[in-house]
Amino acid sequence: MELAGKAVVITGAASGIGRALARRFASDGARLVLCDRDREKGEGVAREVGAELVVADVAVESDVRALVARAAGALGRIDLFCSNAGIFVAGSETTPDAEWRRIHEVNVMSHVYAARALLPAWLERGEGYFLATVSAAGLLSQIGSAPYAVTKHAALAFSEWLSITYGDRGVRVSCLCPEGVRTAMLNEASGPSFLLEGALDAESVADVTVEGLRAERFLILPHPRVAEFVKRKAEDPDRWLRGMQRLRKKLEEEG
Ligand SMILES: NC(=O)c1ccc[n+]([C@@H]2O[C@H](COP(=O)([O-])OP(=O)(O)OC[C@H]3O[C@@H](n4cnc5c(N)ncnc54)[C@H](O)[C@@H]3O)[C@@H](O)[C@H]2O)c1
Repeated sequence: MELAGKAVVITGAASGIGRALARRFASDGARLVLCDRDREKGEGVAREVGAELVVADVAVESDVRALVARAAGALGRIDLFCSNAGIFVAGSETTPDAEWRRIHEVNVMSHVYAARALLPAWLERGEGYFLATVSAAGLLSQIGSAPYAVTKHAALAFSEWLSITYGDRGVRVSCLCPEGVRTAMLNEASGPSFLLEGALDAESVADVTVEGLRAERFLILPHPRVAEFVKRKAEDPDRWLRGMQRLRKKLEEEG
């Protein structure tokens, strides 16, 4: 997909990757509706790129339905929906259920709600493009966070399923799966040193995303080494798990 003239919605557009996508897409000539739950920051970005802002919580289905209706009204149609908003929660099996539910609502159900709202019009028109910001954690794992690893795997699984089910009816799907990106989230996650060292800025991630959308590739991997790790995991899962155990231990020793 080429972005010039396209009607695009981006969630989580007030900062980080979403903001960088908004800036890059706007400079490529896309017409944008932005969404975030942070009104103040969202309005700043919307003003900057000449877009409309819809303040919404993507974990609430009625908010997502209203966002899709408002954007379709403002733009005439939605060509590309970037389901980008997501959160990080550090934790393990002991993380309280309420936290598991919260991250599941934001990192998984937001994509389901968006697809539910978008698909009727897309199937009728015979086209539409869904971009989910997932993570390398959805292909590999996340040392230090079971909730993040699990919800990002689920988001990837849902995206694959969408493509399998509706791909031959004109619905295209991509998953953006970066490792570390220098945003507020990476600071919050106080990422392990190897992620911080390899971290990209959000602008480079936006550039790679535009390339991936142009090629209509399902997996968009701003960090090329992720493809190599996925290959190793598939070839020998036991060896991959032993390697991950060693890495976890090393990171724990580093403190
Ligand atoms: N930063 C990284 O290292 C990294 C790596 C891989 C994937 N990701 C993914 O990229 C996406 C964007 O993250 P980021 O790094 O730009 O983080 P960020 O915290 O800078 O931006 C996330 C934005 O989403 C908004 N948001 C969060 N929950 C929301 C909700 N329920 N409703 C509406 N808006 C909401 C926030 O207000 C914020 O503006 C996330 O899905 C994240 O999991 C980030």
